[in-house]
Amino acid sequence: MSDHDGQAPHHVRVGILGCGNVGAPLVDLIQRHRSGIAARTGVELEVAAVAVRSASKERSVDLPGGVLTTDAASVVDDPSIDVIVEVIGGIEPARSLIARALATKKPVVTGNKELLANIGAELFSAAHDAGVDLLFEAAVAGGIPLIRPLRESLVGERITRVMGIVNGTTNYILTRMTEEGVSYQEALADAQSLGYAERDPTADVEGFDAGAKAAIIASIAFGARVVAGDVYHEGISGITAADMAFAKRLGYVVKLLAIIESVDGSIGVRVHPSMVPLSHPLASVRESYNAVFVEGEAVGNLMFYGRGAGGAPTASAVLGDLIDAATNLRKNSSASVGTLVEARIRPIDEARSEYYLNLEVADRPGVLAAVAGVFGRHDVSIRAMEQEGLGDEARLIFITHTAREADVQATLHDLRDLDVVDRVGTLLRVIS
Ligand SMILES: NC(=O)c1ccc[n+]([C@@H]2O[C@H](COP(=O)([O-])OP(=O)(O)OC[C@H]3O[C@@H](n4cnc5c(N)ncnc54)[C@H](OP(=O)(O)O)[C@@H]3O)[C@@H](O)[C@H]2O)c1
Repeated sequence: MSDHDGQAPHHVRVGILGCGNVGAPLVDLIQRHRSGIAARTGVELEVAAVAVRSASKERSVDLPGGVLTTDAASVVDDPSIDVIVEVIGGIEPARSLIARALATKKPVVTGNKELLANIGAELFSAAHDAGVDLLFEAAVAGGIPLIRPLRESLVGERITRVMGIVNGTTNYILTRMTEEGVSYQEALADAQSLGYAERDPTADVEGFDAGAKAAIIASIAFGARVVAGDVYHEGISGITAADMAFAKRLGYVVKLLAIIESVDGSIGVRVHPSMVPLSHPLASVRESYNAVFVEGEAVGNLMFYGRGAGGAPTASAVLGDLIDAATNLRKNSSASVGTLVEARIRPIDEARSEYYLNLEVADRPGVLAAVAGVFGRHDVSIRAMEQEGLGDEARLIFITHTAREADVQATLHDLRDLDVVDRVGTLLRVIS
């Protein structure tokens, strides 16, 4: 039952800025589902204008004559347009266009993580002052509903930790390495040939993309101002096939996790490869799928799973926001994020976790005692140890008890100076 029975649908003219991977399927969805959306929600969407960079480029959707323009500002300024969708990406001109739309009290829907992770607070505050919506479901996990559950369903919940696999490219690469034993380079080349990874994969594989998403999740989950620059991040390029094999044998799988937690009034927000126990729901998230695991005091554990990117899934999330914005416009209301408070960002040195460490060592008596002595000196206690290989191939694999990051880093520093240690290999945090 909807709240519009017996009334004519509310006609809403939409200006879409960008008609690329997300914009084009969005136009298609609006055109195909227009009457169904009107019947279910009482809102009839019309694509009134679509702004692009190049007028001559071939488009994958049919646009009515006169709709396409290369003048995005004219779309924002058109008084007959009710709602703006920004799917251009990047900082400028997206930032100025959104600010201009909000200043004239037009609701805005965007999927722009880069913008929100850097100047989200500024835009949320502009939307709040204007009393209109700024909705961004698509910015964090593509088609997976996450922002609305965090903002609405869980608004009264005390969230303690959010852990997410929020980058499909790295999850694809790690899945290939885990399941087929291939090297990082081989899995990356495959991801590139399938179009999952860019030719320059840095933003994905070094954790920048996941870091931007972690900043947005932290802002929404804790109502605090967290920007991309606050996020500690490490990528996956140093993970070896041997690490994957050890992880498997020990009962873990390696995943690139964004971890956002509230500890004693501080917010910890970091992205790094992590050893996830095989029994944890995040361990079963394979290929380019994404998932976000939310831990709340009263609600317990929740997991949101699905396609974290791709044109159609992302357009689906944008469309949901668009219908919400149009409905709120009709009711003369808005769902504002409001003002984000300043919070202490916990430095990575204060993070606590169990750790996995892999050392290449000399194969001779006394090595273990020397290595164990370094751990002990820094208060890092060893939970499990295995020796692997002999002679030049000798390795020691350690899992520690929960320790402080600063102590573990000091341990690594001293291990590098030990003459029986040939190489300090990968360090991974173990999730519990
Ligand atoms: N793709 C995904 O899977 C995905 C997932 C989640 C979030 N997002 C976010 O969604 C946004 C759009 O991503 P996308 O993949 O659709 O990007 P895209 O394929 O590169 O499309 C960008 C569109 O913006 C247009 N454009 C660029 N500069 C413009 C300007 N100055 N004025 C008007 N139009 C301009 C381009 O025009 P031309 O077509 O003429 O070049 C193109 O149509 C980004 O913020 C991205 O982070 C994307």
